[in-house]
Order: sequence, then C-alpha cells, then structure tokens
Amino acid sequence: TRQPLDKLLLFGATGDLAQRMLLPSLYGLDEDGLLPADMTITGAARSEMSDDAFRKFAKEALDKFLPADRKEKDKIASFLKRLNYQTLDVTKMDHFTRISDELGDTSKGMAIFLSTAPSLFEPTIKGLDKAGFTHGNVRIGLEKPLGYDLASSREINDAVASVFPEDRIYRFDHYLGKETVQNILALRFGNSFFEPVWNAQGIDNVQITIAETVGLEERAGYYDGAGALRDMVTNHMLQLLALIAMEPPARYDKDAIRDEKAKVFRCLRQIAPEDVPHNTVTGQYGPGAVDGQIVKGYLDELGKPSVTETFVAIKANIDNWRWQGVPFYLRTGKRMAVRRSEIAIQFKPVPHSMFAGRGGLLQPNVLTIRLQPEEYIQMLIMAKEPGLDRDGVHLREVPLNLSLDAEFAGTRRRIAYERLLLDLIEGDQTLFVRRDEVEAQWAWTDAIRAGWAANDMKPKSYASGSWGPSTSIALTERDGVTWQDD
Ligand code: BG6
Repeated sequence: TRQPLDKLLLFGATGDLAQRMLLPSLYGLDEDGLLPADMTITGAARSEMSDDAFRKFAKEALDKFLPADRKEKDKIASFLKRLNYQTLDVTKMDHFTRISDELGDTSKGMAIFLSTAPSLFEPTIKGLDKAGFTHGNVRIGLEKPLGYDLASSREINDAVASVFPEDRIYRFDHYLGKETVQNILALRFGNSFFEPVWNAQGIDNVQITIAETVGLEERAGYYDGAGALRDMVTNHMLQLLALIAMEPPARYDKDAIRDEKAKVFRCLRQIAPEDVPHNTVTGQYGPGAVDGQIVKGYLDELGKPSVTETFVAIKANIDNWRWQGVPFYLRTGKRMAVRRSEIAIQFKPVPHSMFAGRGGLLQPNVLTIRLQPEEYIQMLIMAKEPGLDRDGVHLREVPLNLSLDAEFAGTRRRIAYERLLLDLIEGDQTLFVRRDEVEAQWAWTDAIRAGWAANDMKPKSYASGSWGPSTSIALTERDGVTWQDD
C-alpha cells in the first residue's frame, strides 16, 4: 500500500494537539520536501472558519511552536497554500456529503486523521463511509485515547473495522514516534551483548518512569475523566514495557514487531482485585513547588472535588520463561519533582564477590535509557577508585555514558508526530498499535481500576514537586528495590 496520496483530512484541526504538534509536524515534513508535492491538507472542525482564517490559525501555531531558526517565510507560505478548511459537525451526515463534493476526486487516495474525542470516532466513521471516503487507497489514523475502557475501545474498533480493514487503520501512540523509543530496538537487537543477559537470569528488575512537571494544562475536561492510568499507562507505558520485554522480532516490519509486542501483553499477569492495593499506588497532587514556582493542587486547579489519580505506580509481572520473577515497576505522574521519562534496568548482583573480605561494596549494574528531556544511554558499572587501598579496596559506581544528544548533535530531532504522520501518509504501520494490542492494554488496566473500586481505593495526596506518595517508595522497597531517581 505504499502509494503516494494527495489528500490529508484532519479532524479536530482547531484543537490543542493540532496546534502544538500536528501542524508543526506537517510543516516540518514539508520543509524537508517529504510531503507528496500535490498533497492538500484539509482541516475539519466544528468552528465556522474560512480557508484563510484556518491558514492564519496554522500560521499562529507555527509562530508559537516552531523554534526561531526554523521559520523560513517562503517555506511557511508554501506550506500554508496546501491548507484549506471545512466546517463540519460530525453528527450531521449531510456535512460529509458536502465535504465529499468539495474535496473532489479522491482516486489518488487519502489519509484521514481523527484527533478528536473518542466519543466522536463512531459518528465520524459513519459519515466517512456515507461520503464514500472509505474505499481505495484511504488510511485512517486514530489519536489516543481509543475509548475509555475495554468495552468502549471494542466498540470503536468494531465501528472502524466495519469500514476499514486492519491494514489501513493507524492507531497512534506518539511514544512510538519518539527517536529514543525506537532506539530501544536498536539497542536490544542491533547489539549482541545485551541479549544473553536480557532475562530473569541477568535482570533483577525493570523500572519505567514518566514523570511530568506540568499539571492540568487546560485539559480538565478530558483529564479529570481519564486519570493517569488511562492517560499514560494503557498506552505509552505499556508500549515501553512491551519493547523492553518482547522476544527478538525476525524482521523490522509491522507484523513481526507487533506480533512480539502482542505476545508480551498476553503474558502480562492480570492483577487480581485483592492484589491491587498491594501492587498499585495512586496519588493526586496537592499544592507545592515545581521548578521553583509555587503551584496549586489538583482540586484547586479543577475547582471541584475529584478522586481522579494524577499519579500511579504499579508492580507488573510478565508470566513467561524469560521474565519469571522479574518485577516491572511502572510509575507516572503530573507535577513531579522533574520532567523525566526513562527506563532503568537493574541487573542481578554478581554471584560471588571477591571484594567482600576487603571492604569493597558492590552495587548492581544499572542500564538507563533516558528518553527525555535528555537522550542518553547510561550504564552504571563498578570501578576501582585510584589509590593504594591499604585499608581495603575502594570501589565506586561510575557511569559509562552515551549521550545521543552529543553524538548526534546537529541532526534535527523530529517531533514524534512527524514520524508517525509521514508513516500514515506513506503507508507503514510498523510504529502503530494493532487492535489486539490496544484491547489487551485496556483489559489489563481495566482490571486495576476494578481493583481500586472493589477496595474503595482513593488517591493519596502528594506535594507538587515530589516523587509522588510515599507509598510509592514502599511499593519497591518491600522487594528490596529502590527507585532509580538520580
Ligand atoms: C499524552 C498525555 O498522551 O502524553 C499527556 O495525554 C501527557 O497527559 C503527554 O502530558 C506526555 O507526552 P510527552 O511526549 O510530553 O512525554
């Protein structure tokens, strides 16, 4: 299906994601000559807007979100020429027939991207079908969240599947578009020395952290109904877990990679309701200070009572040969001490220490894959401190560092959506989430939510600017494991 197409239809074109990510990403692709030369981009949303007003809206988004050194007037002007706009209420079928008239010939194919609330996916799909947009070289991209739970996600998947075959459905998880996330594949499968120890014999535990310093960010309407588990774990964190845990795919292609990820999800141990209080921690940020600024608590920001969690930590287990007995600790939160996404893999201690009698203390090796804000891979290894060591051997943990920022300085880091939108336009599904994956992700997190309800678990308050409730520390400490925070 790698045929060039000449139309992109963007639903939710006036939304926050379009402004911050989608328009700047499409511009980035255009700037480098990567969009098909004759491709038009049609924005669709409910607001009444002329083509020119939409171009102005897009220009403002680029002004605001592109770095200063990337604002070439000519290139922006030629990008804006690709844009046009359709006012559309997705619940009105006649609006779709109008769009179909206005878009004209779609025989060269079309990419459609739905960046709207998931409740609008079903009516939009119906409308697209009515407009005759679902046949031929047409691909559909769906932004997360894909539903609210397993049942609603199935409904959406069924509705989409009733008009599009799976190989034309592109479920976005922007973490997969991140360079450092794809680097996990390079690290694991482009090097020979990790694989022999990448298992329960070599690895003691895995810690996946996505800490954010932002709070609600004007997204109260969505976020308060979602919470950290749905917003981050059901998608981004489980995708990271799958990339770390999967068996080596035979090829870099959509089937091989997604088959292996799906197998991991099938082995993810469902947490029984009675185990949920022991294996999960939830929190909600109170007032505090982040980056030296005093910030309000969640409830103050929201302006009403809520038991939505803004922090969650989970101990996950994967029941297969490779990972038996290796906990995967997941943790994510808003208003945390620092902004940081990383995976820390703690290896097993040496089986016997020859230094023990001489006072030399060994720390287990830790491999850290830092996704953001910096991009690096670091291995903590034991080294001997210089000196004559007359009172015992002095060993210290030192970092072996690979800074991807420094190594690839001068190469522009693309926005994750640049990569994913280009793949949608060009027809490569490798970095998109397959139906069985997304449903397994929901099934797993639904069980956790059911456990919270069954045990009447409410999020514990934590100070903004901290690492979450102290019970999150207990979650790992009782296994003798410490979160790698520094
Ligand atoms: C989104 C979530 O999917 O990911 C947001 O809805 C979150 O709540 C964002 O802030 C984090 O993405 P990134 O790329 O900034 O780590």
